Amino acid sequence: MNRRYRKTVIAGNWKMNMTASETKQFAEELKKIMPRAKWCDTLLCVPSCNITTAMKAFKDLRLSVGAENLHYEKSGAYTGEVSASMLKDLGVKYVIVGHSERRQYFCETDQIVNKKVHAALNADISPIICVGESLEQRESGVTEDLIALQVKSALYGVPADKLRRCIIAYEPIWAIGTGKTATAEQAGEVCSLIRAIIRNLYGARVARSVTIQYGGSMNPSNAAELLAQPDIDGGLIGGASLKPEQFVAIINAANQE
Ligand code: PGA
Repeated sequence: MNRRYRKTVIAGNWKMNMTASETKQFAEELKKIMPRAKWCDTLLCVPSCNITTAMKAFKDLRLSVGAENLHYEKSGAYTGEVSASMLKDLGVKYVIVGHSERRQYFCETDQIVNKKVHAALNADISPIICVGESLEQRESGVTEDLIALQVKSALYGVPADKLRRCIIAYEPIWAIGTGKTATAEQAGEVCSLIRAIIRNLYGARVARSVTIQYGGSMNPSNAAELLAQPDIDGGLIGGASLKPEQFVAIINAANQE
């Protein structure tokens, strides 16, 4: 983390978990233990059908509500999809874009990710742009090239003043939901690489202001070590964000003075 130059952001990603009733129950439990997170921003990205419920339930908690996905078109015949303006109208400030599960199961390409990034930014919503390599890609030595391609493609056409609103999340696919975390050094190294890519594209001043998160089995026992890396400015947390006490423990790790 480097709070001098950029925000630390701890974000939960509930994926396809939690009903509206469970969301309310979660908020009740969270209220009892949620710290005043002075040193980091906190948010939970929830299924779109639960956004309104979550907004109401988390109102007193200083916890923003984000979405997990959006469509890139403004409106139209796209049954089942949700547009940026629909999210904006609900008060959403963050949306996850290009999560590896969306790339893998819903065929999202780098071009689609780029269109979604623009759609979010045009609606004043901060995209949390996910990038990351598979185990095969890591083992065959293409991690750096792949991450560069994903980052450059996602940011294609994004001007510097809008880049400040973007968060990049480095999520190695082999670490997601597997309990296998990248070591702090491995994660830190790729997050530094991402900042270097942004520096080449936008210059040093912009690059140092961008929040870069790590995601992939982040939990209370590894969060502090990961967050101690200079280029890891927060986490995108799946499994552990479904348990109030674990989510709070990670927030506490990021909230050290
Ligand atoms: P995980 O998920 O923390 O359960 O590994 C992270 C993510 O997919 O964003």
